[in-house]
Amino acid sequence: MEYRVLGKTGLKVSILGFGGIPIANISEPDAINVVKKAFEVGVNYFHTSPTYGDSAIKIGKALKDVRDECILNVKIFGADRKRTEKGLRKALKMLRTDRIEIVQFRVTKEQFKKSLGENGGFKVLLRAQKEGVVSHIGITDHDPSFLAEAIKTGLFSNVIVPYNYVFREAERELLPLARSLDVGVTAMKPLGRGILVNVSEALNYIWEHNVATAIVGMKNIREVEENAKIGFKPAPLSDDQKKKLRFLAENLLRRYRIENGALIPKEIQK
Ligand SMILES: NC(=O)c1ccc[n+]([C@@H]2O[C@H](COP(=O)([O-])OP(=O)(O)OC[C@H]3O[C@@H](n4cnc5c(N)ncnc54)[C@H](OP(=O)(O)O)[C@@H]3O)[C@@H](O)[C@H]2O)c1
Repeated sequence: MEYRVLGKTGLKVSILGFGGIPIANISEPDAINVVKKAFEVGVNYFHTSPTYGDSAIKIGKALKDVRDECILNVKIFGADRKRTEKGLRKALKMLRTDRIEIVQFRVTKEQFKKSLGENGGFKVLLRAQKEGVVSHIGITDHDPSFLAEAIKTGLFSNVIVPYNYVFREAERELLPLARSLDVGVTAMKPLGRGILVNVSEALNYIWEHNVATAIVGMKNIREVEENAKIGFKPAPLSDDQKKKLRFLAENLLRRYRIENGALIPKEIQK
């Protein structure tokens, strides 16, 4: 597996990261096997949230014997101080751990200013960082241009953004800016929520831009093994492949609309 430094966190993360949403929908034994397999094949970066059903409980159980070798990335809602405190407490309990390497502060553009104030959640994370419970603070939302504004504050060492070869908004401002500020980038919804089935090209597209890791939602051993194989040998895309992806993206956009980085069939109403 290839590993890359996640910006100024200095953490070396596997380019294939583990997206924690789909395991919420499978049995606990199956989920534990999937997470263990991901670790076995070299994944060291696991993203979850106390808001993803029981995903964090399953990840905590699966990784308990290898905890020191793993980087946990946890999304916590940040608009409101009390909610952030509760989310952080819940995450630690679900993961059965006393520390989290990265907390991803989840706020929208509208909530941002308030979230940094007295009654917002950011101060909760700063305190947790001082106490050694949280090592690094990143930010996440679905709007790449808001994330670009947010990282200009210098408060965040890393960012999670929706990014795939169909939804490329991050390329306009966020990715170059993150590079210049040494803010680590994680791509979420790298397969557009499972619609992009040419997985090798989809992941390689992401990895050849300024992105340290892609957190792919995986819910069976086959997906973990297949994706890990791609992560062992990331390969730049040829000009023909790039042309093909542009063509595929145009076609997909006739049938799907983009919602928060996911591809949703146009016939499904908002
Ligand atoms: N703001 C945030 O921080 C935020 C918000 C949302 C999500 N996230 C994170 O981002 C992660 C990724 O997003 P996502 O899970 O929604 O979408 P995704 O990673 O784009 O797609 C996941 C789906 O891709 C399919 N898949 C995976 N490997 C495959 C393979 N080798 N071959 C074929 N299909 C494959 C699976 O679908 P099947 O069901 O068809 O097997 C899986 O459910 C989430 O799990 C979550 O951890 C973060």
